Amino acid sequence: MKRYEAERKFLKSNFNEFKNIKTDKAKGLPQPDRVKPYDLKSRIISLPAVDPEIIKKRDIYQCIGDRRSNRLYSEEAISLEELSYLLWATQGITLTNKAGITFRTVPCSGATHSFETYLFIMNVTGLDKGIYRYLPVEHKLMFILPIDDIDRRLDTISLDQPFVPHFTKKSAVAFAWSTIPYRSEWKYDITAHKKILIDVGHICQNLYLSGESLNLGVCAIGIYDQEAVDNLLQLDGEEEFIIYMAAVGRKRVLQ
Ligand SMILES: Cc1cc2nc3c(=O)[nH]c(=O)nc-3n(C[C@H](O)[C@H](O)[C@H](O)COP(=O)(O)O)c2cc1C
Repeated sequence: MKRYEAERKFLKSNFNEFKNIKTDKAKGLPQPDRVKPYDLKSRIISLPAVDPEIIKKRDIYQCIGDRRSNRLYSEEAISLEELSYLLWATQGITLTNKAGITFRTVPCSGATHSFETYLFIMNVTGLDKGIYRYLPVEHKLMFILPIDDIDRRLDTISLDQPFVPHFTKKSAVAFAWSTIPYRSEWKYDITAHKKILIDVGHICQNLYLSGESLNLGVCAIGIYDQEAVDNLLQLDGEEEFIIYMAAVGRKRVLQ
């Protein structure tokens, strides 16, 4: 079908075209920031050190086998220790080489890591409701905005959910991953975009598996209002925009 053509082309490799392109890196243009800078006067919240003792299911085989998209959450909060572990599992830095390139808990084409993690905090012990950003180098949170009705705002952003209506607003925390595409475009030019989408899938899968290891419920969110979420998170929608979201909460045990 005609209207699928461009979308299908996007799924294919364009390395043959790429061979004839001089990338910004090859031209000697400066590399963009590897992580988004922040105002040092911001409210910064320390996260507890990642503690493997909190893991309930240690068997990777069991976690992979039990993983399911879970959209039914209890009203019980999740702890800061649990959130710390989920953030580490999804974007934590496990190695920084001499050139300053970060290697993380997730693979990423050329270690370009074009992502930033924003959090909609609804019900996490010790944190005010609102919007936060994860600072992976420091393993800390930056508080962006207090929002009392954050659950309602998330509900509006995540549109009409087909399986369990309005499930996102009942979660304890929602992750929203943005991309800053130029971090990858600088090196990969026109081949960057397909890689970015593949890379973000790894992040969410690590959220699913780390969530399962804590017996938390996780559900990916691909259905969301682009403009509404970018506006709320104060992203310009061009140089940085949200590409994927996921909700996390304590699993509701059905009686
Ligand atoms: C990219 C992506 C986007 C998704 N978006 C949504 C969503 O917006 N709402 C939802 O309820 N589930 C969403 N899901 C979850 C899928 O519906 C779910 O993975 C699928 O039904 C298979 O179920 P399972 O994850 O339990 O194996 C999404 C999953 C992926 C991978």
